[in-house]
Amino acid sequence: MTHSSSTPTTPTALPAWQKLDELAQRLPDQPLQALLQDPTRPEQFCHAVGGCLFDFSKQWVDSRVLQQLLALAEQSQVSRQAAAMCDGEIINQTEQRAVLHTALRGGAPNASAEIKTVVRDTQQRMFELSAALREGRYRGYTNKPIRDIVHIGIGGSHLGPELVVHALRDYANSHLRFHFVANIDANELHHALAGLNPETTLFVVVSKSFGTLETQINANSARSWFMERSGRIDAIGQHFIGVTSNIEAAVEFGLDPTQLLPMWDWVGGRFSLWSAVGLPILLSLGQAGFQQFLEGARRVDEHFLNQPAHSNVPLLAALFATWNYNFLGATSLAVLPYDERLTLLADYLQQLEMESNGKSVQRDGSTVSTQTMPVLWGGIGTRGQHAYHQLLHQGSRAYTADFIVVRRDTRGQPQHHQWLLANALAQSQAMAAGQATPGEPHKHVPGNHPTTTVVLDDLGPTQLGALLAVYEHKVFCQGAIWNINSFDQWGVELGKQLAKPIFAALANGEEPSTQDAATQHLIKHLTQP
Ligand code: F6P
Repeated sequence: MTHSSSTPTTPTALPAWQKLDELAQRLPDQPLQALLQDPTRPEQFCHAVGGCLFDFSKQWVDSRVLQQLLALAEQSQVSRQAAAMCDGEIINQTEQRAVLHTALRGGAPNASAEIKTVVRDTQQRMFELSAALREGRYRGYTNKPIRDIVHIGIGGSHLGPELVVHALRDYANSHLRFHFVANIDANELHHALAGLNPETTLFVVVSKSFGTLETQINANSARSWFMERSGRIDAIGQHFIGVTSNIEAAVEFGLDPTQLLPMWDWVGGRFSLWSAVGLPILLSLGQAGFQQFLEGARRVDEHFLNQPAHSNVPLLAALFATWNYNFLGATSLAVLPYDERLTLLADYLQQLEMESNGKSVQRDGSTVSTQTMPVLWGGIGTRGQHAYHQLLHQGSRAYTADFIVVRRDTRGQPQHHQWLLANALAQSQAMAAGQATPGEPHKHVPGNHPTTTVVLDDLGPTQLGALLAVYEHKVFCQGAIWNINSFDQWGVELGKQLAKPIFAALANGEEPSTQDAATQHLIKHLTQP
């Protein structure tokens, strides 16, 4: 990407935005199906990075649209903003923070020496802790090796580690078992702890702020569970470790300061799985596997910072997404992995994309002049084909979808795998081309739904690291284009405040008074004897 400099601006005021508006009016003359007849299209629209091929050829764009999208990137100064992020500038203005998750995987060459040192030192501590746990040298209060890891955390302190540990189960190479507890619903903790032995269980409490309600309540209940069964208050430090940037609060909770791994304000929660938040990934894969995971992401960072715009995968993903939402009226993005191992991908991307870019004010506080992030949802193919694909093929709203497939069959079941891939390709073909059925309107499939297909060479640590980093940078580029701050999340605070007096009313029988009549009625209904 080339750099240009002047201040970011309202996207709708940019010349490229206005040209794209005009081009979008003319699109009905050029159905997607017609564009797909061009044999040179795959060459123009397929780009690979980190063992993942991104096939954008089923996007509803022609060369004129592509040219204006690239102009939009230039006029929005995406590359200058990307360099500012990786150089450690304070780009999260509302929290006055730098955004340096790329430094966690060696993808921010110009980050300060101090940051590079803390990253390296923390990784060293993680590697030592991991080796001790994996080799059975780290022992519980009865001198037995740890067997079960209970990871307590929510949002960015949960979704990434669980996704990766689950997706890369085939690469797990230790005796450790992993359990994740995020929800404040006691059912989750109950099921996670069922059958566990406190002597061989290690709790990892992960919270950047160490003030998140769900994590506090779950950690407290886990501590009670441990105390009731072991009766050993002196063993808490041995069986509870933490990952946090708020050492004081963690120590107040009872964690041993020597058992804490750091987080930093320059890593956003939803970008934190590369840090000590990702400890379960390291424990599961071992040091070499974890490093491959980081390496996949680092390759994408390098590509993102250096690749020209026309072949820059995260940038193109963001530009096509912007085209789809802002010009073609797509109201949602369906994430459709055709691979069971990626069951948790949509959950992870929901936080990454929607918490980052679900914003209504620009960076100067003025109201946005266009739509920002649409709803992201998803599910596993082929299950979805027998559920919501009816709506995708014949529903009345515009949408877009990302298909994610894995080229290699790891189960030695070629028939399963080929059918899985055939279904993925057939679905994207149907979404693009549709079907004309003169005289039978109920069978008509309109088509013209743009999709991207991502083909992972294999589902290994490198490819998964690369895939997630592409989505991270896509999110960044879209935020840059929309001129919003992708790195704060003030919208989630209101509900947290409102829950406090409701909890007081439910728990202590306090008369509800600050809520609206409908909410008060529900509180009374819930507390009736
Ligand atoms: O409430 C939203 C949020 O702040 C996320 O951004 C974050 O990932 C999650 O809560 C957990 O926060 P913490 O790691 O501070 O417990």
